Amino acid sequence: MTEPFSLSVNATDGAARTGVIKTPRGEIRTPAFMPVGTAGTVKAMLPEHVRATGADIVLGNTYHLMLRPTAERVAKLGGLHQFMNWSRPILTDSGGFQVMSLSKLRKLTEDGVSFQSHIDGSRHMLTPERSIEIQCLLGSDIQMQLDECPAIPIEHDKARESMLLSARWAERSKRAFEELSKPGQALFGIVQGANYEDLRRESLDKLIEIDFPGYSIGGLAVGEGREEMFRVLDFTCPHMPADKPRYLMGVGKPADIVGAVARGVDMFDCVAPTRSGRHGQAWTKTGAINIKNAIFAEDPEPLDPESDCPASRDYSKAYLHHLFKAGEYLGPMLLTWHNLQYYQDLMSGLREAIASARLAAYIENFKSETGETLV
Ligand code: GUN
Repeated sequence: MTEPFSLSVNATDGAARTGVIKTPRGEIRTPAFMPVGTAGTVKAMLPEHVRATGADIVLGNTYHLMLRPTAERVAKLGGLHQFMNWSRPILTDSGGFQVMSLSKLRKLTEDGVSFQSHIDGSRHMLTPERSIEIQCLLGSDIQMQLDECPAIPIEHDKARESMLLSARWAERSKRAFEELSKPGQALFGIVQGANYEDLRRESLDKLIEIDFPGYSIGGLAVGEGREEMFRVLDFTCPHMPADKPRYLMGVGKPADIVGAVARGVDMFDCVAPTRSGRHGQAWTKTGAINIKNAIFAEDPEPLDPESDCPASRDYSKAYLHHLFKAGEYLGPMLLTWHNLQYYQDLMSGLREAIASARLAAYIENFKSETGETLV
């Protein structure tokens, strides 16, 4: 009998893997990109269009939803899936990371983190137990432990202290999850330890001891740069359990994802395709462009004439340029849709390349077409 939540790896190519995560709400093909739906919406997108790009799962945020409309209200209205009209899997982040980047007057203690809302200044407390309670009220399928994500660079002793706090919170999160969750839901532990090899190993050992159905790699893409991030993955991924999903949090640009997939990562999320789409940036097969640039004012070609995605195929760059210049809502909507399609095409290309043991050739082609350097 297969577990209600399980990863089956179908093929490997070097350190890279492709497979399927089975959940009661549907399958997640890996490597997977999860569009960010922070406040119960992938900004500027209808859920059916998100699905049409090939997304198997979206991400939601504890921090935003606990403040507005509150987890209790979402639960009363049938849970987050029903509330946002997305019936497939949802992964939620635990809130600590967003508290640190968005809220005011935050205070971190052994118990948790207290903070003031960036929306109305009201005071709140997130503990490992409260974060799990919120994620269960939302009905999240894949939940994250509360953790602390320090910036890099950070001194070794400070990084260890922070990692040990996250490890203690992992244990408390798991206990709360065992009490509150429903069958088929999963809780991931988050590996921390900044860019120190011994600390990443110690963190991972502690999490494996607690035993999670999946492991996230946190604390990266916090200013260390791509090369340093890849170096951390190089000494972390080989020690992660081969039969459990590996999720690199908050990453990344297409080149970051390609490099991390080659190092054995299965899951990704990032605001890049949606946020930059709203600001006029589009990823294309030949690299990134800014549609507001005057060179597109009379360009009659669509972003990708061969795409099945209406946003990529049916609107000229000149029209998209005009929409952005005129401040029309449709501009951000179409560019978000196009970028999400680009990301999902990238993921399906990577999955196919791994399945047919052609990943090295795929990466060479990606580098030469986009001009990206991948270390
Ligand atoms: N999103 C990006 N990085 C992190 C991290 O280290 N922890 C959490 N919880 N979320 C993240």
